Parts: sequence; structure tokens; C-alpha cells
Amino acid sequence: MPGMASIINTWSVICIVLSGVALCIGVAYIRRGQRTQHMRFMLIASSLATLFLVLYLTRLGLGYEKKYIGPDAWKGAYYGLLISHVALATLNLPLALGALFWARKGILAAGGLGRVEEVPAARAAFNAHKRWTRWTVPVWLYVAVTGWIIYLVLDKYGQLSLGA
Ligand code: HEM
Repeated sequence: MPGMASIINTWSVICIVLSGVALCIGVAYIRRGQRTQHMRFMLIASSLATLFLVLYLTRLGLGYEKKYIGPDAWKGAYYGLLISHVALATLNLPLALGALFWARKGILAAGGLGRVEEVPAARAAFNAHKRWTRWTVPVWLYVAVTGWIIYLVLDKYGQLSLGA
């Protein structure tokens, strides 16, 4: 059913864009030292990204695919964007899991977000968390922004190829 797949496609893009917004809010909170709010928004960002993945895979399973039929002059740029988007979206999964893994380890070691500085093992885990996030945040944002751009391009210059 193309109608259904198209709705799923739209919602998957809404989810990935909102996850990017939640990510930015979470980063802004940690810059101000608000750890609990940081954690909440990162969990929201992670849930939205997971929902995106489920919707995206459902859409693929339904065979809903749009081909680029826009101007030839933009074809190379479009496919460059698409390939980098898919590659970095795939990379984002282990990167996000790594950041979450070290955050969880840090909380467990400290017994709460308020005691991170008092417990050396927690401090070490959050240092590792920081190292992962140096890559995770830019990759995640790139995926969210390019996902949106690709959606807009295909809305204008895409041709549906159902059941391919
Ligand atoms: C949901 C569980 C999470 C918890 C409990 C958590 C907790 C923390 C804490 C306590 C810090 C401060 C570390 C320090 O004081 O050195 C921190 C820093 C940070 N976290 Fe998270 N975090 C979580 C998830 C994430 C995710 C998924 C990302 C990104 C994808 C992320 C990105 C960052 C960034 C960018 C920083 C600042 C690093 C810096 O200061 O250079 N966090 N996090």
C-alpha cells in the first residue's frame, strides 16, 4: 500500500529530525553542567533514533523506494549525499551504543549522577563517554540533517518504484 508506506516514510524523517533536535538540547544542557536534563534528552534522542530505524526498516520491507529523477547536473552531488548519509547512519549505531554504554557504566560505578567526581571508576567511564561523544554528536547531526535534505529532494525530484 503506497499510502501507508509514504506515511511511514514521512514519520521516519520526522523522528530522525526530532532526534537531532533532542541531541542539540542534550548537548546544551551538559555544557551548562545539567547532567540529569542531559541524560533525559539523550534518552529521548536515542528513543527517537530507534523509532526511526524501526520505521525505516518497515518501509524498506514494504518495498517503498524513491529514485532520483532530478536534473543531471545534481545527480553526482545527490548520490554523494545519499551514500555518505547511509554510511554514517550505519556508523552512528555503534557510536551511540558506545556513548550510552560508558554513561551507564559511569552511573553504575558512581551510584548516581551526583557522585561522578567522587568515584574514580565513574570519572574514568565518563572520560571514555566524552571521547565517544566527540564522534557521535557530529555524525548523528550529519545523519539527521542529510536525512531531511534527502527527503525534501525526493519529494520534489523522486519517482516511486514500488515492490522493487
Ligand atoms: C543517556 C545516558 C547519558 C548519560 C547519563 C550521560 C551523562 C553525561 C555526563 C555525566 C557527562 C559529563 C561528563 C564529565 O563530567 O566529564 C556527559 C558529557 C557529554 N555527553 Fe553524555 N550522557 C548520556 C548520553 C549521551 C549521548 C547518547 C550523547 C551523544 C550522542 C552524549 C553526549 C555528551 C557530550 C557531547 C558530553 C560533553 C563532553 C565534553 O564535555 O566534552 N551523552 N554525559
